[in-house]
Amino acid sequence: MLLEAQGLTRRFGGVVAVDQVSIRVTEGELVGVIGPNGAGKSTLFHLITGHLRPDAGSVALREQNVTGLPPDRRARLGLAIAFQAVRLFRGMTVLENVMVGGHAWTQHGFVAAFLRLPNHRTEEAAIHAEAVRALELVGLEKEADAAAESLPLGTQRAVQVARALCGRPRLLLLDEPASGLRAAERERLAHLLERLRSEGLSMLLVEHDVAFVTRLAGRITVMDRGKVIAEGTPAEVRRDPAVIGAYLGQERRRVVRA
Ligand SMILES: Nc1ncnc2c1ncn2[C@@H]1O[C@H](COP(=O)(O)OP(=O)(O)OP(=O)(O)O)[C@@H](O)[C@H]1O
Ligand SMILES: [Mg+2]
Repeated sequence: MLLEAQGLTRRFGGVVAVDQVSIRVTEGELVGVIGPNGAGKSTLFHLITGHLRPDAGSVALREQNVTGLPPDRRARLGLAIAFQAVRLFRGMTVLENVMVGGHAWTQHGFVAAFLRLPNHRTEEAAIHAEAVRALELVGLEKEADAAAESLPLGTQRAVQVARALCGRPRLLLLDEPASGLRAAERERLAHLLERLRSEGLSMLLVEHDVAFVTRLAGRITVMDRGKVIAEGTPAEVRRDPAVIGAYLGQERRRVVRA
């Protein structure tokens, strides 16, 4: 099993943002996560990457328990995320922002980088090449030298996807990557994700555009109010009464209580 999260729970004050959630991803699988606003999707992602600590539950990557590890250690084990709330470095170019992702696989740390040791220079060249390739994949090679913060938000999201790819992940978490994209850009992203999936990259995808997720995901987990309310193939999930209830607001309380 590539990812196995079990019984994850996270509270914020009185709100149980993620409530006993278990989710698995096998090698080469693209799993969708959908649910209404505030369902706990982003919180679940941050528990998986280590940006948040769980109140209960565990996360394992390829059978290794990583629950106590910080995000950079998990990144070294092959985890990468493109955040919903864009986090790019201001004052840095698009290319420089993408290169940051490469530190997930470098041997030499910041000391070598600071001292500009020869090994470090070879590594920087490798990261540079990987970043250029990642920018080409998301179709932003022409923006490489632009200031990251000058780009529209949808494009900044694509930069984040490139940064995550520059980390050479085995499991890529994408939190609403299509949000703010125009139809043509959205189509391009869908093609990229199809291609990455066919190359064997495993992904977890949160997206409000259900058609977008349905097209790409083999399995979908549906969350509402912190809990998993349904799981299955896109077809199974679509006809699930609990899912219809959560999305349409019909008989919501009855479904949640059941
Ligand atoms: N840092 C935080 N501090 C306090 N409450 C938080 C924090 N992060 C999330 N929450 C709360 O936890 C719940 C789940 O939020 P989360 O962002 O995970 O939902 P989501 O499914 O990603 O929603 P959206 O579709 O709007 O992105 C919400 O009630 C939210 O207000
Ligand atoms: Mg979210």
